[in-house]
Formats: sequence, C-alpha cells, structure tokens
Amino acid sequence: TIENLSFKVKDLALAEAGRHQIRLAEHEMPGLMALREEYRDSQPLAGARIGGSLHMTTQTAVLIETLVDLGADVRWCSCNIFSTEDGAAAAIVVGRDGTPENPQGVPVFAWKGETLEEYWWCTEQMLDFPDGPNMILDDGGDATLLIHKGTEFEANGVVPPADEEASDEYRVILDLLNRSLAENPTRFTEMGKQIKGVTEETTTGVMRLYEFERDGSLLFPAINVNDAVTKSKFDNKYGTRHSLIDGINRATDTLIGGKTAVVCGYGDVGKGSAESLRGQGARVIITEIDPICALQAAMDGYQVTTLEDVLETADIFITSTGNKDIISAEQMQRMKPQAIVGNVGHFDNEIDMAGLARIPGVTKTEIKPQVHEWTFPDGSNIIVLSEGRLLNLGNATGHPSFVMSNSFTNQTIAQIELWTKTEEYPVGVYTIPKHLDEKVARLHLDALGVKLTELTKSQAEYIGVDVEGPYKPDHYRY
Ligand code: NAI
Repeated sequence: TIENLSFKVKDLALAEAGRHQIRLAEHEMPGLMALREEYRDSQPLAGARIGGSLHMTTQTAVLIETLVDLGADVRWCSCNIFSTEDGAAAAIVVGRDGTPENPQGVPVFAWKGETLEEYWWCTEQMLDFPDGPNMILDDGGDATLLIHKGTEFEANGVVPPADEEASDEYRVILDLLNRSLAENPTRFTEMGKQIKGVTEETTTGVMRLYEFERDGSLLFPAINVNDAVTKSKFDNKYGTRHSLIDGINRATDTLIGGKTAVVCGYGDVGKGSAESLRGQGARVIITEIDPICALQAAMDGYQVTTLEDVLETADIFITSTGNKDIISAEQMQRMKPQAIVGNVGHFDNEIDMAGLARIPGVTKTEIKPQVHEWTFPDGSNIIVLSEGRLLNLGNATGHPSFVMSNSFTNQTIAQIELWTKTEEYPVGVYTIPKHLDEKVARLHLDALGVKLTELTKSQAEYIGVDVEGPYKPDHYRY
C-alpha cells in the first residue's frame, strides 16, 4: 500500500533544473503570460479548487502557475504513466518561493514511469482536496471518468462496459472503486455534485464527454478545449510535427531520411506526423478510413493505401487515429527486421501490446527505458516505443512551449468561463466562443513578428462581420 502524502514526485533535488526549464518556457508562452498580466489583480479563479490531470511537463508547469496566479487552488497528476518531466514536477511542488527542504508550491502526484496502480493512485490523490475539487482540468478524460464511474458505482454497483473488463487497467480502477466505497460510500457522488465543470484538452477525452452527454450521464458542464481552432489546428498538428520525430530520434537515433514511414490516420495529429516524417526525407504512406481525409492526404502528395499493403516493406509505423486495434500482433510479426512501431494517439490500445506479449516464444529486451526490442521465434525483431503509449511524450518531452501556450491559454480561458459564468453553462458540452479563440491567436502574433491587416468599416460591412471580429461563422473550418 502507498501511504497518503501531500505530494509525490521523483526527487525534489531536481527542482532547480526544472525551474530553469520553466523560466525559459515562460518566454515562449506569451498567451499564458498575457493572461497573468490581465487577470493578476481581478483574481477570476479565486475560490476555484482545480484538480488537473494533464502530462506533468515544463509547459504544464507554466499553466499550473498561471492558474495559481489567477487565484486558484490547484492539485495535479499526469495523464500518462511516461509523460512526466521529473524536474518540472519537482519545481512545481517546491514553488517559486520554496526550497526542497520547505516546499511551498502545488501538490503534484506524478513521476516518469508510473505503474498502472500508481497512475490511478495519483489520480485519486490529485482529487483529494480537503473540501473536494470544484473544477476539473482534464486531458484524455481519466479524472472525469473516475468521478463518473465512481458515482455510478456508488449508486448501484454498476461496472464499466464489457470491453474494458478484460484489461488490467479495468481491474485497477475496480480495486480503487471498491476500496473507496468501503472508506466513503458517497465520495465520488459528493465530488460530482460540487464540481462546476471540466475543461478537456484532447480529441479522445472530448469523445468520451460527448458519449456521457448522449447517454444522459454527464454530471457537470464541460468545455471542449480541443476543438478551439487555436488548439486542435495548432497543437495536434504543428506540435506533433515537432515532437513526433523528436521522440523517434531520441529513442532510436535511426536516420529517417530515405525510409518508408506509415502514418495511420490523417486527422490533425496524422497531418502533423506525416509532415514531420516527410521533412526528414522519409517516403510517407497514409492509411485512412474517412474518404475526405484520404483525399486530403492524396492531394498533399502522400500515397494512401492499407496497412496490409505495406506491412512487409515499411520501416516506421506510427498510429494517430484515437481508435483501437490499428496494428495487430500478427501484423507486427510480419514487419521488416528492426521496424520501428510507435503511437501518438492518446491511449495505448491502437497497437495490440497485450497480443504481442502473448505470442508464444516472443522475447522483450529493454534497450533503454521506453524503448523495447521484441524478438519473434523466427529471429526477426521490431522496436516498440513507449510500450505503445504516446511516444512524443514518452520518448521526448512532448510539444514545445510556443504551441502549448495556445492550448493552455484556451484551457485557462475555459476555466475562467466555467468558473465565473456557471449559470450560462447548464450541464452539456460546449466549445470556446470564437471571439476568445481569436483572442488566443492574437496573443501569439507579436512574438512571431506578425503584422495583421485591419479591416476597414466598409470592408467589414461588405463581408458581414464586425471590425473587431469574430471574422468567421462557426461553420467555417480553417
Ligand atoms: P482526428 O479525429 O482529427 O484524426 C483521427 C483520424 O484517424 C481521423 O481522420 C479518422 O478518420 C482516422 N481513423 C480512425 N480509425 C482509423 C483506422 N482504423 N485506420 C486509419 N485511420 C483511422 O483526431 P486527432 O485530433 O488527430 O487526434 C488523434 C489522437 O491523437 C487522439 O487520441 C488524440 O487525443 C491524440 N492526440 C495526441 C497528441 C500528442 O501529443 N501525441 C496531441 C493531440 C491529440
């Protein structure tokens, strides 16, 4: 059993190094720094107790300290077992005014390389405010899921759906809920009641929220941050364009130029992935199920075919679908020796890792943490990155600060919206109003030396918009 602590990170001695990284990141995050300036006096998040579950990286550290500067009380965990930067986590616990001997910062429960039990324990600790959380900031929806499943469990012992039952993760959650029920039979029900809302970072978490909304079980209002234009069309695409090859390079140091790389899925993340690999000189092949995205890929100059067609010939395989069962264990056995297999979708069910481990006679060799060679009985091998979990965060440090400033400015604005205008958001899933989306972009122009053209009043009237924006109707797709 792991005891209950006020924080748990790898090592507070890493705080100084983490603080240097945070300091440099602040300069690259003009949107968040502008919000600190704008709201430092009015403290719009005063009274908010925000429970955050989002990759505990340097960029997230700047987000956390922004929320604190706006008046919030914050607790944090990571939303992936491999994505924490231990220096950033330590620096946030120590805080700007503390020392490793006398930490003054925010309770963080996160370290790089958690087990699944530790991961869910961290999520539980993150929610453990003395008076409970009243806001959630989520990435992938695990914190929201725990509160929803917990509420369901406390009401009628209903267990999660059948297809999750077989997984190790399901058993971990079930153990947690059983233990929680024995300690406090109304814990998650009470928690759900006082939560004013959740702001959700990613495509996969948003999909879960719309499911809760559809089946009528959504417990509190939610803002879909992912579908702000300045989030998904920037972080998912340009962020991945940077961090995908960063992960592959740090993990394998294999030359990408001249190789054949397959990207499964040509959504926002797939588009960034494909461009990232093409930029290194790889020949990139796309797989898609959606004719529109397939046509986009073809027009962007990529070959589009099925995975089956290229299994034996490609060198690098990347999944970016947010869907399950994309690469099977049997398919991995047919790949070229030393083919590289990795995922940048949110969950690890895109690649059948459990099936891989079940192949009779297969062996797994750790080359280094988060890089494994799997050798098949016939002597052939493949390299799997981050055990099938987000490789750009597991093998590298995720997206760079400037693009995350856009995402996290949206997150902060969404938190302020739900916290200060609670009555305007009945239970449901909302996107960020367009004028705020445009504001996020505007806050990032100066740093890049962008000079914006101003509409004249008569031009604005001609195209039917206000001089100050919003400049596009909601159905416009960018
Ligand atoms: P998206 O919905 O824009 O793109 C996914 C694409 O995959 C769609 O075009 C869909 O048609 C396609 N697809 C679905 N099933 C497929 C299959 N069986 N074979 C081939 N293609 C298939 O979603 P987005 O925003 O690109 O996100 C994808 C995943 O990446 C999500 O899980 C999201 O949460 C995650 N994500 C990861 C990030 C990272 O840093 N690694 C950053 C942002 C999002």
